[in-house]
Amino acid sequence: MKQREFKKRRQALMQRIGKGNIAIIASASSAVRNRDVHYPFRQDSDFYYLTGFNEADALAVFIPGRQQGEYVLFCREFDATKALWEGAHAGLEGATSQYGADDAFPIDDLDEILPGMLENKAKVFYPMGKNGELDHKLLDWINHIRKQSRTGVTAPGELVSLEHIVHEMRLFKSAEEIKLMRRAAEISAQAHVRAMQYCQPGVHEFEVEAELIHHFMRSGLRAVAYPSIVAGGKNACVLHYTENADKLRKGDLLLIDAGAECDHYAADITRTFPVSGKFSEPQRLLYQLVLDAQEAALAEIAPGIAWNKAHEASVEVLTKGLVELGLLKGRVKKLIKDEKYKQFYMHRIGHWLGMDVHDVGDYKIKDEWRLLEPGMVLTVEPGLYVAADCETVDKQWRGIGIRIEDDVLVTADGYEVLTAAVPKTIEAIESVMRS
Ligand code: GLY
Ligand code: MN
Ligand code: MN
Repeated sequence: MKQREFKKRRQALMQRIGKGNIAIIASASSAVRNRDVHYPFRQDSDFYYLTGFNEADALAVFIPGRQQGEYVLFCREFDATKALWEGAHAGLEGATSQYGADDAFPIDDLDEILPGMLENKAKVFYPMGKNGELDHKLLDWINHIRKQSRTGVTAPGELVSLEHIVHEMRLFKSAEEIKLMRRAAEISAQAHVRAMQYCQPGVHEFEVEAELIHHFMRSGLRAVAYPSIVAGGKNACVLHYTENADKLRKGDLLLIDAGAECDHYAADITRTFPVSGKFSEPQRLLYQLVLDAQEAALAEIAPGIAWNKAHEASVEVLTKGLVELGLLKGRVKKLIKDEKYKQFYMHRIGHWLGMDVHDVGDYKIKDEWRLLEPGMVLTVEPGLYVAADCETVDKQWRGIGIRIEDDVLVTADGYEVLTAAVPKTIEAIESVMRS
């Protein structure tokens, strides 16, 4: 992502904050995995969205109209020893020259410098409740200013959620963002095809996971957007199964939910296919039903259509199909009203997709489902999961879990599936697995 893009975002944010106010946002912290070993660092998405700065121990301050510069970055000072052991870091010099900060200060001097910036500001835009230590500090700084009121300074009177503003911005993807999302989608799609070709009875779920990650990394995408779900047979009925430890068995289905991250933007794809390359009859029937539900849901994606319509369409198709196949008994309308489908379809049709796999942005506005608009990206992912011990259905259906998930961009006149390169019809899947 070019620096120009981050600058544009900061300018848009400054507009929304308004003169006389201030916004504060902290970076992610480095998290310890076990003694002396840290988890791979992942920057806070909001912080990265506004700064492009990929270090821990940093804090950005935005002060519209400030004479000495509106964008201030607190970060680690350059330290040659640290650079030798842990690698490059920008330092104060880099913060301004490479990352476009108007002013940079050492993070260790935060307590001395930030309170002065809060003086005489009306509102503080801040992500409340995300960082307990910083929450306390902020209140301490504000109280400290209050005590000095006799000297003529005033303390901020209002704390406002910064997230609401930033998340609304993040919901609408720019051309630059869509470029990155396309790349994440394209490489993730290739990895799914590879996994289909690699899969055979007797290999472990984690070996298939290795095949996916191998392709992500060899294609230049080092991070996964979330831990891959590689679930053979009844493991697919555990929605967030990530143990990936079992051997794949002939006759079972394999559900893979995996996506790579491209410069902090996620792909999120699920495909379900037969381990040995050919669907059994019950698998085929349930699979086709989920695919029909996905198509019905996709038909409801266009500007001006409420977000909920796709979900309702999937519920209708799935419930009707479950009655036809005998897994549910009763009248379709009543089964939908009583939410009986939830025994087999317990999640929603999808979610916003972006820097976070479950991305930010409101789904409802004033209690009404939001209308889709061009530039939004969402997943469409209906599923059916028949628990292995489900005694209300015939044995042939038990232990089958199926989900089909694609990433969809809302365009001016409809939608575009970013992940269309992974086959999903029964014929196409069986054909790829034969190749
Ligand atoms: N991979 C998480 C989801 O599909 O929502
Ligand atoms: Mn997924
Ligand atoms: Mn998803």
